[in-house]
Amino acid sequence: MTDVATPTRALFAGLQPQAPDPLLSLIKLYRDDPRAQKLDLGVGVYRDETGATPVFASIKAAEQILLETQDTKAYLGPEGDIGYLERLRPVVFGAGKGGDFFGVQTPGGTGALRMAAELAAAGTAGARIWMGAPSWPIHGPLFRKAGLTVETFRYFDPVTQRLCFEDMMDTLSKVEAGDLVLLHGACHNPTGADLSLSQWGEVTALLAARGAVPLIDLAYQGLGLGLDEDAAGLRMTVEACPTVLVAYSCDKNFGLYRERTGALYVRAAGYQDVAASNILQLARCAWSMPPDHGAAAVRIVLESEGLTAQWRAELETMRLRLNAMRVALAEADPRLEPLRDQFGLFGLLPLSPAQVEAMRRDHAVYMVGSGRINIAGFTPATVQPFVQALDACLKGDA
Ligand SMILES: Cc1ncc(COP(=O)(O)O)c(C=O)c1O
Repeated sequence: MTDVATPTRALFAGLQPQAPDPLLSLIKLYRDDPRAQKLDLGVGVYRDETGATPVFASIKAAEQILLETQDTKAYLGPEGDIGYLERLRPVVFGAGKGGDFFGVQTPGGTGALRMAAELAAAGTAGARIWMGAPSWPIHGPLFRKAGLTVETFRYFDPVTQRLCFEDMMDTLSKVEAGDLVLLHGACHNPTGADLSLSQWGEVTALLAARGAVPLIDLAYQGLGLGLDEDAAGLRMTVEACPTVLVAYSCDKNFGLYRERTGALYVRAAGYQDVAASNILQLARCAWSMPPDHGAAAVRIVLESEGLTAQWRAELETMRLRLNAMRVALAEADPRLEPLRDQFGLFGLLPLSPAQVEAMRRDHAVYMVGSGRINIAGFTPATVQPFVQALDACLKGDA
């Protein structure tokens, strides 16, 4: 009989233990906390004022239509649902725009980022990508796994709550032709601090002058200033730079999360056909074709004027609630004033890991170790208790 305890060939001998995602242990700690007043500011999903993350009514209606009308589950191609890609195109690029981008449906924004990185690494071994610090914690590891060389620029200082725009421009003035530069389209994760339009203009002009390639990660369109406003930086980039990659997620702004609904749009000046063929081959060798359901539901929403209006209204309700909570926090404590001018789900407080731990231990306030808070975790009733806990924590008597 085979002795499974002593494998003959050490196939896995090179594996290093990997730390579990800290968010998962935070979820468990929160779940097991018996305190009634506990506050979850951790996981990055939208919540309404009851703490729920409901399915959009427009998506429910689209799913009903899908259930009744879908007559086959036969394979689509590696590009996924073409109708979804076409209907989403004007949402991203503006009416009548973006026709020169090749689109492919991906499993979430994460799949789009991975595909973009693999495409770049296939085009230039060890290609360089510049990204801001801090950023979504998956960006760096994802790019490295795909074979890119990751360089960083300072983006945000949590203590002053300001963008490090001069540092950013200084570093970006050294990028070389063909380098990728990652930019968050809107609602920066984890800081909520977005470039202003004039800053977008400066960055875009610099990247265009240096021949660098913007990779725009747009995962929260519609949750900041509005659907078109949140794509304004991206659209400037598209006007200025010949080669642009857009990694898009519908998982937040259509509330689809686990349905893994994203898209990659690529315009590769001088290389469009070969880039498109490589994208399809990468998809075929990674997930063959993307999961259908979420993209089909988005397509059905966007095909219908009525459902599109309903979706926009639902998204607007979310956006307004986030902004109202930002105002309430800013008004409750002057130290939280910067949150007022930031956007989307997140803010990054200048708390040490020990202070974050104290917020959890002594006040049942749960947040990520970096000090990132999810603004959607608040309700009007929890703002004051949070401010009191923060105050106690910052005074060191937590
Ligand atoms: C900045 C950013 N990009 C991409 C993603 C990936 O989104 P998805 O869940 O669609 O893979 C996230 C998700 O949290 C994100 O915050």
